Amino acid sequence: MSESMLNLKRTHRCTEVSEKCIDEKVTVMGWVQKRRDLGGLIFVDLRDRSGILQVVFDQSSIGEEGFKKAERIRSEFVIALEGVVEKRTDETENTNLQTGSIEVRAIELRILSESETPPFQIEENSPVKEDLRLKYRYLDLRRPDIQRNLMIRHKVSTVTRKFMDTEGFLEIETPMLTKSTPEGARDYLVPSRVHPGQFYALPQSPQIFKQLLMLSGFDRYIQIVKCFRDEDLRSDRQPEFTQIDMELSFVDEDDIMSVNEKLLYEMFKEVLGVEISLPIDRLTYQEAMDRFGSDKPDTRFGMEIVNLSDIVTECGFKVFTGAIENGGSVRGINAKGCGSLPRRQIDALGEFAVNCGAKGLAWIAITEEGELKSAITKFLSEEKVNEIITALDGKPGDLLLFCADKNTVVYNTLGNLRLEIAEKLELRKKDEYKFVWVTEFPLLEWSAEQKRFVAMHHPFTMPLEEDLAYLESDPARVRAKAYDIVLNGNEIGGGSIRIHQRDVQERMFAALGFTKEEAYDRFGFLLNAFKYGVPPHGGLAFGLDRIVMLMTGSDSIRDVIAFPKVKDASCAMTDAPGNVENKQLAELSIKIDKLEI
Ligand code: AMO
Ligand code: AMP
Repeated sequence: MSESMLNLKRTHRCTEVSEKCIDEKVTVMGWVQKRRDLGGLIFVDLRDRSGILQVVFDQSSIGEEGFKKAERIRSEFVIALEGVVEKRTDETENTNLQTGSIEVRAIELRILSESETPPFQIEENSPVKEDLRLKYRYLDLRRPDIQRNLMIRHKVSTVTRKFMDTEGFLEIETPMLTKSTPEGARDYLVPSRVHPGQFYALPQSPQIFKQLLMLSGFDRYIQIVKCFRDEDLRSDRQPEFTQIDMELSFVDEDDIMSVNEKLLYEMFKEVLGVEISLPIDRLTYQEAMDRFGSDKPDTRFGMEIVNLSDIVTECGFKVFTGAIENGGSVRGINAKGCGSLPRRQIDALGEFAVNCGAKGLAWIAITEEGELKSAITKFLSEEKVNEIITALDGKPGDLLLFCADKNTVVYNTLGNLRLEIAEKLELRKKDEYKFVWVTEFPLLEWSAEQKRFVAMHHPFTMPLEEDLAYLESDPARVRAKAYDIVLNGNEIGGGSIRIHQRDVQERMFAALGFTKEEAYDRFGFLLNAFKYGVPPHGGLAFGLDRIVMLMTGSDSIRDVIAFPKVKDASCAMTDAPGNVENKQLAELSIKIDKLEI
């Protein structure tokens, strides 16, 4: 039976009760984490969002009836109690608890709500399978670690709004029911009842609207906003996620980067007490690929990729020379200190490389004594071997690994091997935060599937002035005024300077393979708007979920979202998406084909 809170007012959250309150009466309310019955004495760990407080029930303080009630208490009951704060004796102090030096001796107890035995115990770092946790997400969210994550998320948004306000940004909302925006993923569509057969698209980002806000004169825009993308999910991807989205007028790349560096500085200082050093390093896309094999390099550790092509062009080893003759390259990394790995583990790295698309992984191990072990040195002159070792700064105890192939395969293989080895060597420390800007991305990339160029960032991104002339003649070489911000090997944000001239925008659509009619059909409102005075502008969007994931050291984006979707984009708790009634479909003029399963 549940009781009411009548005449009881909560005076403290659990961990607000402290030694300062000794001998005072307090009223606390929350969930029962644990109950221990020692016969004449019952201990309860009371939990709320602030933490845990120990409560003691003994008959002399709470009376016979109250004690009987306390005997009924079970895990996850919601209770309210009034009691007196006491200091614990030295022997009973619990240094693991913030409130471990005190306890509350109850004088009145009310059971506000009972609980069935939950499907799993509510505890930090729960070992329970995620499927079950997400089905009962409302219980899972009681876990202190998840609550902490969501509190950090709240702080990040709060610091962001405050900082952006002082920098003169205005928060302006943009529509959720809109037209398809071209961020490159599939759209979520919403059928229109009033316009049978027509659909809204949920925004993949507010990109076009924020550009129009610049055209309208708002000068600096910010929005913390939901975006929707129907793409395959990964541990850092959700179908609906949140951006810290911004746009600025009359700026260049440096202005945008500078204000965002300050924002990141504030965020990390205010939320984590970590001072990041500014300015943040910058790499061009090409440098990032050449040195790290990735456009989102993890710069917490070295193990950089070295191009050995010049050394081995005429070395006589077919695997190497063949790759170069085919327009590829030979590159290597030095896995420092891995020279004495057993053969089995080196072979495992080879398999890893093959899974990345490589044809094999050549290697030279240098023993502590300086001896070389390798299957390829016999194909090379001693001089070449020495040149290779010098180029990779090989020292006794090192393992040198080589990939020879097309550049894309070499980058992908060595880039991923670098991460794999660093993970094994524990070089990727979660509490170290290494930021880097990656700039000068290619404007376009060839899509084999669509047999046309697609925008690498989005179609509104401005080409570098010096490359603009090649937009028609050699589109692949055009670089963009686009930049990503990368943290510990994760793309946490990206943006660009935008095209603000109608003729350039039309050329861009043409480069993407749209006819003029198609371009006007899809983006006519933007192209027409560009007739009426457009300020030069640019912006950026952070993935808020990803930032919080990294700040909290979470392995999955789901741990920083209150109600996330699972792998197949469904919600394990509500079972969305679900069927709808035929009447609703009829109203929307929609007929469902019989599904073959
Ligand atoms: P972009 O597509 O790079 O840029 O998105 C910006 C940032 O959003 C995050 N992000 C995601 N996070 C979780 N789940 C997803 N499915 C997901 N997709 C993207 C990433 C990414 O860096 N309109 C442009 C921004 C601009 O040009 O101003 C845009 O949306 O961290
Ligand atoms: P092979 O002569 O083909 O047996 O190759 C000798 C060594 O080179 C083996 O260790 C292979 O794994 C490695 N290897 C083969 N192809 C490549 C490649 N494309 N890049 C780097 N190493 C390779």
